[in-house]
Amino acid sequence: MILALINNKGGVGKTTTAVNLAAAYARAGRKTLLADLDTQGSASLHLGIRTPADRPQATQIPNLDLQAGLPQPGPYDHIILDCPPALSPLTTQALDLCDAFLVPLQPQYLAMEGLANLLRFSQHPKRWLGILLTMVDTRARVTNEIIELLQQRFPDKVFTTQIKTNIRLSEAASFGQSIFEYDPRCVGAQLYAKLKEEVDQKCRVLAV
Ligand SMILES: Nc1ncnc2c1ncn2[C@@H]1O[C@H](COP(=O)(O)OP(=O)(O)O)[C@@H](O)[C@H]1O
Ligand SMILES: [Mg+2]
Repeated sequence: MILALINNKGGVGKTTTAVNLAAAYARAGRKTLLADLDTQGSASLHLGIRTPADRPQATQIPNLDLQAGLPQPGPYDHIILDCPPALSPLTTQALDLCDAFLVPLQPQYLAMEGLANLLRFSQHPKRWLGILLTMVDTRARVTNEIIELLQQRFPDKVFTTQIKTNIRLSEAASFGQSIFEYDPRCVGAQLYAKLKEEVDQKCRVLAV
């Protein structure tokens, strides 16, 4: 199954989600490839790899390979595409290549432009698994209002799993580790493990 993390906005948690979801699959014994489509190479750096190759290479995580650029479908159970923060040709190609895609979204601030993008995604012929709320801080009232608005506008599309703001997730990135190596007991690790279950369940329902 090829899954893309798409949002033309930067800083919404695409890379954090791509890396930790890929690591969650690898931990569960699934052969996983993480494709870093962002020329900034942040998914690669997140796994401690400075100069990623444009073909699969092993990472320090068993069952997890990494490559820069678009992959060929290979001997993998899961391929996760970490897309750049733009609706660039690479993002378009990733959308063509994937079986399903997921839109990470930070609910602190929702510009109308962001809503228009979501509407576009909802009409996309590829399977839209849904919206993943990231960096959620439910103490902020505006956050809860935006979540409610999204749930009304896109029923069944907002993932039950919400990735809370957890500093351990950004620390893990700077240590070149997934959250499961860095701090397997923290909230961030628990949430990404839960997200993997929900993605699997949604894929089963949609038969992707
Ligand atoms: N749940 C979270 N809690 C705290 N920090 C986070 C969380 N998710 C992402 N971050 C941090 O926010 C920044 C942007 O996240 P990133 O995954 O790189 O977004 P994108 O790939 O969409 O640009 C990074 O510094 C990352 O470590
Ligand atoms: Mg990124």
